[in-house]
Amino acid sequence: MKKWRCKVCGYEHEGDAPPEECPVCGALPSEFEAVADSGTAGGADWRKVGSVAELSKAELQSLEIGGRKIALSFRNGQFGAVSGCCLHVGGPLGEGCVRDDYVVCPWHGWMFHRLTGEARPGIPAAVPRYELKVESGDLFIDLASAAPAKHAPHPKHPLAREIARVPGPIRVAGISTTVMDKAEPRYSTSDAMLNVALAHAAELGAETRLIRLNDLKFRACEGYYSKSAAACTWPCSITQMDAADELDRVYEALVFWADVVLIATPIRWGNASVLYYKMVERMNCIQNQISLSDKILIRNKTAAFIITGGQDNVQAVAGQMMTFFGLIGFHLPPFPFAAHTRGWTAEDMENNIAAVKNSDELKHQVQALAERCIGLAGKLTGLQ
Ligand code: FES
Repeated sequence: MKKWRCKVCGYEHEGDAPPEECPVCGALPSEFEAVADSGTAGGADWRKVGSVAELSKAELQSLEIGGRKIALSFRNGQFGAVSGCCLHVGGPLGEGCVRDDYVVCPWHGWMFHRLTGEARPGIPAAVPRYELKVESGDLFIDLASAAPAKHAPHPKHPLAREIARVPGPIRVAGISTTVMDKAEPRYSTSDAMLNVALAHAAELGAETRLIRLNDLKFRACEGYYSKSAAACTWPCSITQMDAADELDRVYEALVFWADVVLIATPIRWGNASVLYYKMVERMNCIQNQISLSDKILIRNKTAAFIITGGQDNVQAVAGQMMTFFGLIGFHLPPFPFAAHTRGWTAEDMENNIAAVKNSDELKHQVQALAERCIGLAGKLTGLQ
């Protein structure tokens, strides 16, 4: 069996031909070179990097030499050269920083020793490292000296599994986005109406699941997309890195479990709840898969909204929600939201709560919304 090495990141592939794309850095087949049995493509391949005086001015820099990305570091009078392509998803190591002699990837923080290429102790992975020498004030690198990259066994995240609808009745997930003091919970009009809708969905034979964002601990999106589209991954980079982050429950419900998603929000200063936006920003990774690799995670699913507030702006809030959920692949039923406000001049919120509690009209509104969603979901799933 022939062996091929990615000249960009050092990934090695066995087969008659190079892979269509490097699974680590995405390099094309033309970036692969045949590897001789000895583990190198031949003898030494020394290339001049530049003058020591100039190169030693930066603690870490990204260079491209002979078609390879190199992270060149200089610290305590010693140069180090490792592959500039992170083993995770190809982040540019040379654009990161050096911490305790480790190069820190600027995308998600993976670390590799700047001299040996080894990952942190206990992680059996390494990026290729290169031999260096200084002659007459110039630095040289031996491109043939790179040992193959070592990949630690990396089990797939459960959310990375294939997406397929598990047979069963229509499933409705309710997501309550209201914020409240857990020790002293109060009556929430949006949460209450969501529960009415879910109870009605259950009466209609659907399975239901309620997720209160207020009960979950989850981090805010850290803007990986702003570093590079490829840095925003599915599953979400935070979900993969941080086992304590609980937004995986929302991803699981939206992408895998539910046929219908009902999102309930209060209106806060003319917008949806802050937790709604915190959740939605973390869904950048769902939308990004569509623009990046034409991978659609949400198919044949229905979304609808319950919006309540003491004052106005229902249509603007609904407009934002419909746009976002439409853009990640959800279908909207006819009349896709149920809403309640009492208008700009209503400041007597204690009466607002009573009005919602006693409003049969509002209950019928959210029940009818649940019915419309289940009707559409039945068609989309082929169950009705
Ligand atoms: S690409 Fe380097 S840590 Fe993710």
